[in-house]
Amino acid sequence: MPSAALDRAESLIRTIADYPEPGILFRDITPLLADAAALRAVIEALIEPFSGQFDVVAGIEARGFLLAGAVATVAEVGLVPIRKAGKLPRPAASVSFTLEYAQATIEAHDDIEPGTRVLLVDDVLATGGTLVAAHELFEVLDGHVIGTAVLMELTTLGGRERVGDVHAVFTA
Ligand code: PRP
Repeated sequence: MPSAALDRAESLIRTIADYPEPGILFRDITPLLADAAALRAVIEALIEPFSGQFDVVAGIEARGFLLAGAVATVAEVGLVPIRKAGKLPRPAASVSFTLEYAQATIEAHDDIEPGTRVLLVDDVLATGGTLVAAHELFEVLDGHVIGTAVLMELTTLGGRERVGDVHAVFTA
């Protein structure tokens, strides 16, 4: 992956102060998503360490979906949506956790094949609560998480200490 493409992609991420609450620095990836070359570069960078090692990609609602759909298409694998509580129509596994600025519950349908190799994808690693919960979800589901990839890791929030090995395309 040419670093120039990734450098440009990183430059398109905007930091918005005090959103959605005072004291929160929100990372707005919409300018990156709107740029075809930047989007392609980050999708390939998310996949690169795990190429050929996963059967499905699991994306976390909502912004994780934006990346996971593209990862699934480029990697030629299926997609498992990890949804917020109450959105799935069939029996689902459920894990509750604390976010940086909210409480949340995530769920996934409970019909994945045991041992399915899963790549977890999300946009941002902050405190790590979301990704820890996603790992727990796949333990309940008997899936095998082979890796975790995020677009951006916010290093000061200590998420890596909670989640363990995470591939971050960008750090801030
Ligand atoms: C955001 C982000 C990650 C999570 C990271 O989700 O998209 O999923 O927080 O935070 P953590 O590492 O502290 O758990 P959020 O539910 O806020 O927003 P979204 O629905 O817009 O994706």
